[in-house]
Amino acid sequence: MNINREHQCDVLVIGSGAAGLSLALQVAPYGKVIILSKSSLNEGATYYAQGGIAAVFDESDSIESHIQDTKIAGAGLCEDDTVKFIANNAKPCVQWLIDNGVLFDREENNGKKPRYHLTQEGGHSHRRILHSADTTGMVMQNSLQNNAYNHSNITILEYCNAIDLITEDKIGGEHNKVVGAYIWNRRYEYVENIRAQFIVLATGGASKVYQYTSNPDISSGDGIAMAWRAGCRVANLEFNQFHPTCLFHPKAKNLLLTEALRGEGAYLKRIDGTRFMIEFDKRAELAPRDIVARAIDFEMKRLGEECMYLDITHKSIDFIKKHFPSTHIRLQNLCIDMTKELIPIVPAAHYTCGGIIVNQKGQTDLSQLYAIGEVSYTGLHGANRIASNSLLECIVYAWSASQEIIKKLRKKELPKKLPEWDDSQVTCSDEEIVIQHNWRELRLLMWDYMGIVRTNKRLARALRRIELLQKEICEYYSNFKVSNNLLELRNLLQVSELMVQCAMKRKESRGLHYTLDYPELQNNTAPTILIPKRKKY
Ligand code: FAD
Ligand code: SIN
Repeated sequence: MNINREHQCDVLVIGSGAAGLSLALQVAPYGKVIILSKSSLNEGATYYAQGGIAAVFDESDSIESHIQDTKIAGAGLCEDDTVKFIANNAKPCVQWLIDNGVLFDREENNGKKPRYHLTQEGGHSHRRILHSADTTGMVMQNSLQNNAYNHSNITILEYCNAIDLITEDKIGGEHNKVVGAYIWNRRYEYVENIRAQFIVLATGGASKVYQYTSNPDISSGDGIAMAWRAGCRVANLEFNQFHPTCLFHPKAKNLLLTEALRGEGAYLKRIDGTRFMIEFDKRAELAPRDIVARAIDFEMKRLGEECMYLDITHKSIDFIKKHFPSTHIRLQNLCIDMTKELIPIVPAAHYTCGGIIVNQKGQTDLSQLYAIGEVSYTGLHGANRIASNSLLECIVYAWSASQEIIKKLRKKELPKKLPEWDDSQVTCSDEEIVIQHNWRELRLLMWDYMGIVRTNKRLARALRRIELLQKEICEYYSNFKVSNNLLELRNLLQVSELMVQCAMKRKESRGLHYTLDYPELQNNTAPTILIPKRKKY
């Protein structure tokens, strides 16, 4: 077979979720784009998003109110300018989605043109979530990827993992400029490289560092790890969000029960049928996620129970089937009738609030390198993300980064030929089982020691174990041929280390970071910023 070991393009987009596809579609009229996806094109957190996307579409709502709600949920750590930037650009960016074929649910409007049906989620003081029943992400992903498939300037490479970024110093230039990336072609099992004028990391979050997560398998923090190794700063990685309501069921992996259920009236209950959220917060079931997840965790530990329960049985069967058709069917397939019974739930790792530091144009610390979507730290979420602001952040930053890239594209040329990947010294591993065991150990230790409730001792223990695993994997990486599991584990270990380091730096409890050693808020607080050793800022 004739193998093409080098690709080239104007813009390399690593990741094919809401962020990557939106940027690719906006840049494609101006240059050649390659979209890289390490699994099938649709596999990413975007596809599984349920609740919807926040934007002010109702006349009685206001952008100011969206800003305030975001900041309250963010527990004093949101960056003002970013929150305003995103809330102000929400409506035109959502309109761009609509123009690109994304169909959001509409409702009757007193005989006039049907208006968008807006649902409610925790922390929002208005109904402002546009949605497509309870499969918003799937509808978005399908529309955007169909457009990408049909665009003549877009090439799609599926089942290809970006391994590392290539900086210009490898070809005799600057160390803080990115010129390409090495990729592991999983189908053919060899390493290729891609030269590009601009590289955009849109690789999603890192919730797979945890044993229990709502995320798909691809969420292994690859973009954060690659950017850190190349020399980018990262911030706020102690704030990993736990979604309060994932299904607790031996046969269901990662099944989220959308917050819109609580938005539309569902209660959280103990096994004896009593509600408990009102004992923790006056907003009860609609308090921000950090509060709800901690309350569930507290009740589970206090009562020695394996789970708590979600109850929407007081709503009519028609209402439930209309608003939550996919959830209804998926639960029915597991023999749970949500119209009649309580649904067992537990909190699970859901969203990485921190990430690669970027400015309002999505630019990282390295020249020609951008980061958008869940992989980035823009300052929007602060210490806790409010529901449905993530898809919004993806599309607003896809738009702003694409404008910047388009402006610069006209002037730039492709970098020189890149050095080839050297695997002449490595052999095939005959101990894949070691990787599997390390995987399991890491995810469990992160769950136990870096989970919803932390202590100094637990964090120190986590770091010690991570460092040991890192040594082992580093040796493995140098001696054996790469594989998907090895690459992901290397990245998960890197991101876990950064998360624990961020957590150790925060000497207070704020938003998603709760530690028994510092239960109070500090007055002067700031984002936790980590700087890679090889760089000076
Ligand atoms: P993703 O959609 O996760 O895409 C990442 C892409 O990067 C994938 O294509 C993957 O293959 C690729 N990739 C990763 N690493 C590599 C690599 N090394 N090489 C090549 N490719 C790579 N947010 C909301 O706002 N509203 C919601 O209703 C909502 N519901 C959610 C429900 C669930 C179950 C989950 C898990 C999340 C939900 N979120 C929601 C969060 C939101 O879906 C995500 O934050 C958002 O979709 C992230 O989009 P993204 O484009 O940044 O990344
Ligand atoms: C959900 O539908 O509960 C998830 C929404 C989000 O994560 O923003």
